[in-house]
Amino acid sequence: MTLLQVRDLRLAFGGVQAIDGLSFTVDAGEIVSVIGPNGAGKTSAFNCVTGFYKPTGGSVTLDGAPVTGRRPAKIAGLGVSRTFQNPRLFGELSVLDNVRAGTHLWLKQNVFDALVHTPRYRRSEQEATDEAHRWLDFVGLRGDRAGLVRHLPYGEQRRVEIARALARRPRLLLLDEPAAGLNHGEKGELLDLIRRIRELGTAIALIEHDMGLVMEVSQRVVVLNFGKEIADGPPEQVRQDPAVIEAYLGRDADDAELAAAREEVRGVEG
Ligand SMILES: Nc1ncnc2c1ncn2[C@@H]1O[C@H](COP(=O)(O)OP(=O)(O)O)[C@@H](O)[C@H]1O
Ligand SMILES: [Mg+2]
Repeated sequence: MTLLQVRDLRLAFGGVQAIDGLSFTVDAGEIVSVIGPNGAGKTSAFNCVTGFYKPTGGSVTLDGAPVTGRRPAKIAGLGVSRTFQNPRLFGELSVLDNVRAGTHLWLKQNVFDALVHTPRYRRSEQEATDEAHRWLDFVGLRGDRAGLVRHLPYGEQRRVEIARALARRPRLLLLDEPAAGLNHGEKGELLDLIRRIRELGTAIALIEHDMGLVMEVSQRVVVLNFGKEIADGPPEQVRQDPAVIEAYLGRDADDAELAAAREEVRGVEG
């Protein structure tokens, strides 16, 4: 069943055509990666899907319903959650409160309850706290949860951001370069985490430069270059696509560079 459908998406910034006709789908429970060189338009595509940018053409549908150009809060309410290329957390809030913030999307509270601190309000606050702890367990956060999030090491902050996105109980999770800045061990844990998220039934769209990770977890890979889609298929097909290898390489490279780029695109073959 198609959860997300992006059709002929276009986005221009002044004279720059950041996205020039991008079409792809994400089925329920599927992991689809979007790869391509820096500046290819990957983050912009996510921004169009989540309502942060208004596309200049094409359409985005969720479960068959058009959401093109709708506001981010509206699209989030329909079950789309994301993380950012550079984590955007509330630095002056605790780790726990950052994740609790995610629960407010579905938590039923009204202003009266909150002002008067009714028993119902206290129950729902407790529910939010319990759920935040469960997601922090799920992402394997080891650090202090009561301390400020900005005091955590970078890799842990990335986990908190994923926990917050999961606390929104999304049907579709968009991850923008989740492995960037992680060490080898953390990347292995991320791989395991992505698989466990999928087992929950959550579909994932993944922007990632780490080809080993992409080839390992994706059912399908979409390749963007200068805003144009140059490939879409299963990982084993895409990694052998000459246009993909070329895009990662440029035209003037010598044979040694070509071999290195091939290795990079193919990831770890075993
Ligand atoms: N808010 C913006 N204003 C102007 N240009 C932008 C903006 N966001 C992205 N771009 C441009 O769009 C192109 C694609 O950027 P981006 O989507 O961030 O690429 P990627 O995530 O693949 O590295 C780049 O040329 C970038 O400079
Ligand atoms: Mg980007």
